[in-house]
Amino acid sequence: MIQNKLAPSILNCDFSKLGEEVGAVTRGGADWVHLDVMDGHFVPNLTIGPVIVEAVKQHTSLLTDCHLMVKEPEKMVPWFAKAGAGSITVHQEAATEIMSLLKLIKSLGCRVGVSINPDTSVDVLDGILADVDLILLMSVYPGFGGQKFIPHSLEKARLLRTKCNAMGLETDIQMDGGISLHNARDVLDAGVNVIVVGSAIFKSPDVMQATSAFKALLA
Ligand code: DX5
Ligand code: ZN
Repeated sequence: MIQNKLAPSILNCDFSKLGEEVGAVTRGGADWVHLDVMDGHFVPNLTIGPVIVEAVKQHTSLLTDCHLMVKEPEKMVPWFAKAGAGSITVHQEAATEIMSLLKLIKSLGCRVGVSINPDTSVDVLDGILADVDLILLMSVYPGFGGQKFIPHSLEKARLLRTKCNAMGLETDIQMDGGISLHNARDVLDAGVNVIVVGSAIFKSPDVMQATSAFKALLA
């Protein structure tokens, strides 16, 4: 049985009170905490390093879901594993030796994820589906929170869930970018079971209440 999960992304939280923000999503019923790691090369923005994973872990026992939007991910994967990442997702577009990268993540005791950008076809994942715990489909171009959801992402999710079902795999299918209370139902209906929500939670006046509202939708 595939469970629905809510993974608030702290990218747009108030970093001056990170602990309180993480506490609020935890109390609101979040399942994972999503951390957007950007290196200023793979994407035109620079964000979170391993010290933030350590800081988040001081305020929650939820799984830290690290989304690495970086070049040469093999260099950084061990840093995030050491910081306590529960799950590490790398971009297919950034990987040169994808299988060895996935093995590295697994060998470090983390859940294994692979992400693809909006313009990358789900077919590129055919050879690795059996080797991952999670596929992250980007529903915006990675780099910034608060962007508009790309509708074509729903079709990709449907195709990917069909492929997983055909292989007998209960892979987590995660979607990230532009998800709000207005489109979350469509996202779930397309076969996604893990939604990443950034600004719709952290830019709302009551972070805990906003988290609970998404959580209710997932039930
Ligand atoms: C974009 C990030 C997303 C983003 C989600 O590169 O991977 O996690 O922060 O934020 P919203 O929900 O605001 O699109
Ligand atoms: Zn993300």
